[in-house]
Amino acid sequence: MDARTLLLERNSHGKLEGPAPEASQLDTLYRAALRAPDHKGLTPWRFVEIVGEGRARLGELCARAERARKPDVSEGKLDSIRQKALRAPLIIAVIAKVVDNAKVPRVEQVVSAGCAAHAMLYAAQLEGLGAMWRTGDFAHHPIVREGFGLSPVDELVGFLYIGHKTGRDKRLPVLDPADFIERWD
Ligand SMILES: Cc1cc2nc3c(=O)[nH]c(=O)nc-3n(C[C@H](O)[C@H](O)[C@H](O)COP(=O)(O)O)c2cc1C
Repeated sequence: MDARTLLLERNSHGKLEGPAPEASQLDTLYRAALRAPDHKGLTPWRFVEIVGEGRARLGELCARAERARKPDVSEGKLDSIRQKALRAPLIIAVIAKVVDNAKVPRVEQVVSAGCAAHAMLYAAQLEGLGAMWRTGDFAHHPIVREGFGLSPVDELVGFLYIGHKTGRDKRLPVLDPADFIERWD
């Protein structure tokens, strides 16, 4: 795939199936992530690979978060939350591991982790994989943050659901750059 097509036609895929990506494909994803813009070279990134039974662990963490939020939640609802972690053979939690730096404020480090996640989406598409970035209802919940060992300044920027596409590509939205551009001249 040429770079122009990749850049202009990236498309998220939520309907995914196994097998999980091969090691060489994952290596491409991580190497793309590590090329994220990074002020002062702080490498403020952490990736947690969630596969196999680890997905059930994530589902349980989200179910615990929901129960903390709504103590009278039904078992059916908790089960559907647990199931959501099984929607892909691989989930990568992308975390901004924020360090104290006089020149690089927290927001820049969080944005850098977001760029890393975005690069991984492109790399997944390049590798012929399907991927979707989700935060859902729980990425910012204290129980989930604790489960991932986040410090108070860290951020879980998203869960990348990755696997093999099922179904067709969705139609891309048609947006006009002119609607988003202002000029200072
Ligand atoms: C930080 C972030 C969090 C997101 N969380 C969700 C989510 O929880 N659920 C969801 O359906 N889409 C979520 N999205 C949007 C999808 O990843 C995707 O961008 C959207 O479905 C549009 O598809 P496209 O990427 O092909 O344009 C999120 C996107 C970002 C950047």
